[in-house]
Amino acid sequence: MSLLQGQVALVTGASRGIGAAVAERCAAEGARVVRVSRTLRSNRRGNLHDLACDLTDWDQVSRLTSVVLDQYGPPDIVVSNAGAFLLRRLEATQAEELDHQLAVNLRASFAVAKGFLPAMREAGRGSFITVGSVADHVGFPENAAYAASKFGLRGLHETLLQEYRGTGVRLSLVSPGPTDTPVWDPFDPDRREGFTPRAGMLHAEDVAEAILFVATRPPRVHIDWLRLGPLQR
Ligand SMILES: NC(=O)c1ccc[n+]([C@@H]2O[C@H](COP(=O)([O-])OP(=O)(O)OC[C@H]3O[C@@H](n4cnc5c(N)ncnc54)[C@H](OP(=O)(O)O)[C@@H]3O)[C@@H](O)[C@H]2O)c1
Repeated sequence: MSLLQGQVALVTGASRGIGAAVAERCAAEGARVVRVSRTLRSNRRGNLHDLACDLTDWDQVSRLTSVVLDQYGPPDIVVSNAGAFLLRRLEATQAEELDHQLAVNLRASFAVAKGFLPAMREAGRGSFITVGSVADHVGFPENAAYAASKFGLRGLHETLLQEYRGTGVRLSLVSPGPTDTPVWDPFDPDRREGFTPRAGMLHAEDVAEAILFVATRPPRVHIDWLRLGPLQR
């Protein structure tokens, strides 16, 4: 029996990396999947529905929310995953780079939560899963802007946990360690001392599996925070 038969899952940042793996896994488990990113062409085939949206733009998120709620009603699962990464020391970080990290990693997730959680609350059910990072609770050098956005994201999650307590909506934060996705391409971790080489990283499918686990617990179970990373050797 497919785990998500009859369910609707919306995944942001689903054009590649972790989001693409989550969307694929949800579809394989029978869900109708709405994939969202800037570069996906709006399109529908089989149980996949792609919607182009720049999540840093409030108006676009508002339109996305209306389209999805009109067509599907409140999703059973929202995976707020879209993100961007930056490795830059504080003194070299430009104001626009900080703004971009905050816009994609924090404000976009805020907007997605604001868009979908009211309808999920009304329905009294659903899983809202935020993809954080090891950098949402640990500081690393060269991570000031990224960590600021991800620590903020964890703060948002902790607050929403309180605001949605008792509503039937399960909010979860999944915080992966280094994962081999295109996000690392500009930074070449194999040549940087102190970084996990790509071969030692998690795979996007490992994170997708963790997210599926969180989303498919029996209704009485709530995983509020799941951390995972590569086994240290
Ligand atoms: N890879 C890691 O080591 C790692 C570790 C911990 C946490 N994470 C987190 O996992 C999540 C996914 O990362 P990833 O490694 O899979 O990165 P990735 O391969 O670069 O994918 C990022 C996704 O976000 C989308 N995106 C970026 N800006 C967007 C915007 N303004 N509006 C809509 N979509 C946008 C991208 O699609 P478009 O370009 O098509 O818009 C893409 O689908 C992020 O939140 C990241 O912080 C990653």
